[in-house]
Amino acid sequence: MVIDELKNNCIPRHVAVIMDGNGRWAEIHGNDRIFGHTQGVDAVRSIVEGAGEIGVEYLTLYAFSTENWDRPKEEVNALMSLLVNSIVQETDNLNEKNVKMLAIGDLYSLPVDVQSKLREAIQITSSNTGLNLVLALSYSGRWEIIEAVKKIVNKIQSGEINENKINESVFTSHLSTVGIPDPELLIRTSGEYRISNFLLWQIAYSEFYFTPILWPDFRKENLFEAIADFQRRERRFGKTSEQIRS
Ligand code: FPP
Repeated sequence: MVIDELKNNCIPRHVAVIMDGNGRWAEIHGNDRIFGHTQGVDAVRSIVEGAGEIGVEYLTLYAFSTENWDRPKEEVNALMSLLVNSIVQETDNLNEKNVKMLAIGDLYSLPVDVQSKLREAIQITSSNTGLNLVLALSYSGRWEIIEAVKKIVNKIQSGEINENKINESVFTSHLSTVGIPDPELLIRTSGEYRISNFLLWQIAYSEFYFTPILWPDFRKENLFEAIADFQRRERRFGKTSEQIRS
């Protein structure tokens, strides 16, 4: 798949990715799970570059779920160190590529060093105007929905919002993805066909793309292939094919 084969007028504005298969990749290569996560950073670098090249506006990566806290302590610690080191090491590169970093999730639950490096990277890249790289950290869709409900209930109690005025747009504006368009395309690697609590509200009309490639082997060419597949689909949003074509 070459970049020139993509239709420029039909690039998804927002691509979300469930990066899966690091552990299995490591096992196949006779190494420990942490090594798989470390190799996964090369894949992140490649698709951030690729997404920027073709004009994707938002790339959201599921880097750590609220459920991932239940993994063995050594793996959680290693993932946190990898995240903080990658964020620090990649900030200059992201800046050069005009990438703006954002984060969604229960960020206060992260170790303080991760929080402060993340805040720093977000600040340093804040005036960039190219790709928005959204890291989902300590994130889950259900967590986010419950947080939104709590915020809305508080506002109803204080009289700031009238419950009869609550609609999809009001609800959306209380999610951590406020201001970010819904993903048109959701990619999951490693041959698993699950959503795993990712962007549950936002994927209502997303196209799903599943690939058997394990995350550390995923590269921008695979992203282009996923987008080419997306471009061959007809998105109907509940309407008929005739309505869409006319
Ligand atoms: C899932 O594979 C992967 C993760 C839980 C972590 C993803 C993190 C990275 C790729 C590290 C760097 C990220 C950034 C944004 C710098 P798995 O461990 O569930 O694999 P398995 O299903 O084969 O066990």
